[in-house]
Amino acid sequence: MTIRIGVIGAGRIGRLRAATVHTHPQTTLAAVCDVNRGAAQAAAQGSTAVVCTTLDEFFAVPMDAVIVSSPVQMHEEQCLRAFALGQHVLCEKPLSNSTASAERILAASVAAGKVLGVGFNLRFYPAMQYVREVVDAGTIGPIDHIRVFGGHDGLNNFTADWQYKAPVSGGGAMMDVGIHITDIARWFLGDVTDVYGVVTENVWKVPGSEDNAMAIFRNAAGVSATYHATWDEWQGYEVAIEVYGPKGMVRGAYAPMQALLITHEKPGGPRTVVKKRYLDIAIREKLRSWTTTTQATFDGELADWLRRMQGGTGGALATGVDGVRSLQVRDAAVQSSATRQAVALPPLPVG
Ligand SMILES: NC(=O)c1ccc[n+]([C@@H]2O[C@H](COP(=O)([O-])OP(=O)(O)OC[C@H]3O[C@@H](n4cnc5c(N)ncnc54)[C@H](O)[C@@H]3O)[C@@H](O)[C@H]2O)c1
Repeated sequence: MTIRIGVIGAGRIGRLRAATVHTHPQTTLAAVCDVNRGAAQAAAQGSTAVVCTTLDEFFAVPMDAVIVSSPVQMHEEQCLRAFALGQHVLCEKPLSNSTASAERILAASVAAGKVLGVGFNLRFYPAMQYVREVVDAGTIGPIDHIRVFGGHDGLNNFTADWQYKAPVSGGGAMMDVGIHITDIARWFLGDVTDVYGVVTENVWKVPGSEDNAMAIFRNAAGVSATYHATWDEWQGYEVAIEVYGPKGMVRGAYAPMQALLITHEKPGGPRTVVKKRYLDIAIREKLRSWTTTTQATFDGELADWLRRMQGGTGGALATGVDGVRSLQVRDAAVQSSATRQAVALPPLPVG
């Protein structure tokens, strides 16, 4: 059976999402909506999708599922309209620009009994998948501690105010590149129950939009992650995770895509080192664009989302609960920074 999917927001990300749907053998691109008709037309090109400029036109098209890739302040209204029509939703990160709004989206998905996926596509990067495989195989033993980093060089990466100016953006580096690494840390920790954070606005001085966030996350078993999200990274865009265990460590990073595995029988013993360089990805990005890598991760997310719609489990797709929790973690870091106390998170939301 073909699943009919519509895409709202046909900008940088929505265009890639639409192409993913158009090329997948099990899905049809049913409609594309953007206030900019030219953008919607470009994303629909080559497909039979209905091109729309309003939500009323868009939701009049019969569909099974919707991808929301519009500016963050629009996610709630668009997700809620889709759930009210009994459609599944895959919503771009961050799920919304406040925790309360994201909780309403999650509640609507539960009430509708439909799948809510969140676009934490970093999970699908080959280097991150490699870290996942190594950890799951027990190669480094049980996780002892984690380091995560996500950053870029700041405001010249943004093309519109909604992307970085609070309150519309919902915050700064922790809402932007940082929300991906919050999620990646949780993906390996299982969950985050306690946060100690230091959140600052000293570099770019955008009120309410932190340009640096340092934090320690802790899970219920006391396993910790050190966290740094920044808009002041001299190298430009970079995300990385390092996971340490008694038998070694594994690192995944981008850009460029690379991974490292160091193992030993016991600390201080002889080491085995494996380096992965992903030259095929480097060459493809050089010849075409880094967007080919993003597109490949969207293919993986779409496959997982379809499987969940059909009652399947597993895979790496982030859920609505993951989307809400990543925002609760930011709230906790901001609160902790103000109070200089560690903050315990509320119970994990139900989804
Ligand atoms: N997964 C990732 O790694 C990643 C990366 C960047 C952005 N994002 C997220 O993707 C979403 C879109 O970001 P982007 O970079 O593509 O932004 P963008 O500005 O390139 O595109 C947004 C599009 O939405 C359209 N739009 C605005 N208002 C609309 C409305 N009311 N209805 C329909 N369309 C509307 C705009 O005309 C524009 O074409 C955001 O939620 C952003 O946070 C995710």
